[in-house]
Amino acid sequence: MWLILGGEGQLGRCLQQALLARDLNFVAAGRNEVDITHKDEVSNFVQQVSPSVIVNAAAWTAVDAAEDNEEAAYAVNALGAAHVAYAAHLAKSQLVHVSTDYVFSGTAQSPISEDAPCAPVSAYGRTKLAGEEAVRTHYADGSLIVRTAWLYSSLGANFALTMARRALTHQPVRVVNDQFGQPTFAHDLAEHIAQLVHHKAPSGTYHGTNAGHATWYEFAREIYDLLKCDLDLVTPVPGTEYPTRATRPSYSVLGHERTHAAGLNELRDWKVALADAMPAIAQKLKMEENL
Ligand SMILES: NC(=O)c1ccc[n+]([C@@H]2O[C@H](COP(=O)([O-])OP(=O)(O)OC[C@H]3O[C@@H](n4cnc5c(N)ncnc54)[C@H](OP(=O)(O)O)[C@@H]3O)[C@@H](O)[C@H]2O)c1
Repeated sequence: MWLILGGEGQLGRCLQQALLARDLNFVAAGRNEVDITHKDEVSNFVQQVSPSVIVNAAAWTAVDAAEDNEEAAYAVNALGAAHVAYAAHLAKSQLVHVSTDYVFSGTAQSPISEDAPCAPVSAYGRTKLAGEEAVRTHYADGSLIVRTAWLYSSLGANFALTMARRALTHQPVRVVNDQFGQPTFAHDLAEHIAQLVHHKAPSGTYHGTNAGHATWYEFAREIYDLLKCDLDLVTPVPGTEYPTRATRPSYSVLGHERTHAAGLNELRDWKVALADAMPAIAQKLKMEENL
C-alpha cells in the first residue's frame, strides 16, 4: 500500500495515475485529510494506513509568496517534511520526499550533481532545503529525496498550460531567455518515482528531471511549434524584463549520476516528453475553455 501526501496536487494526481497503471494499491490524501503541518495528524494517519511507501508530494509551492511568508512556507516544507519523515520512520515505511532544483544557487555552468553544495537564493529554496535536511536527520536510511524542476502536465496551473493557452488563442508572448532549466513532465516524474521504488534504489538523493535543458523562451517556442502556431509570436527577453519577488536560479540543470548508478535510465529528453504531453494539454484547454 502506498500513501501519497499532497495527493490532490499536480504530482500527486500524476502519481495516482502511475500507481493505477501498475495495479498498485494506494491512498491519496489531500490537505483536508492530512495537513502535514500537524504532527499528530500525520502520525495517526500513517499508523492507520500502514503504508509500505509514503510519497510526500505536499508542499508550499508559491515561490514568490514565500518571500513574504517564509514562516508559513517553512511550516509546510520543513516542519511538515520532518513530521512525515518521523512518522515514516516509526511505521517503517519507505519515504519518497520530493524536493527542488531551487536548493541550488544557480551559479553552476554544467549539470549539477546530487551531492553538489546547496545554497538557495529564495525563501522557498531555503524552506525546501530545510525539508531535505529534516528527512536526512529523521530517516536517512529509509528515504529517497527526489529533486525535480519546471513541472508541467495537463493537471494544475503551470507554464506549459499557460503558454499553450496563449498559443491556441494566437497571442504574442515575451519569454525569459537567460534562465536555464529542465522542463519536466509530471507524469514522467511519477513514473520515475515508481521505478526508483520498484528497483529498490538505495536511499539518498536523486534528480528527477527530464534530460537536456532549455530556457523558458525555448520551452515556450517548442509549445508554439507543437501547436503549429506562428513562432514569430514568441519573443526572447532578458529576465530583467520580468522582475519577480523571488530570485530564480539562472542555471539549474540537474545531473542524473545517481539514477544511472542505481541502474536506471534518466528521464527522456524534455522535447520528446513535451511532444507526448501536448495533445492532452491542448485537449484540456479545448474542452474546458473552448479554445
Ligand atoms: N511545480 C514545479 O514546477 C516544481 C518544481 C520543483 C519542485 N517541485 C516540488 O514538487 C512537489 C510537487 O509539486 P506540485 O507541482 O505537485 O505542486 P502543487 O500542485 O502545488 O501540489 C502541492 C500540494 O500540496 C498541498 N499542500 C500544501 N500545504 C499542505 C499541507 N500543509 N498539508 C498537506 N498538503 C498540503 C497542496 O494543497 P492546496 O492546493 O490545498 O494548497 C497541493 O495539493 C513539491 O514538493 C514541490 O516543491 C515542484
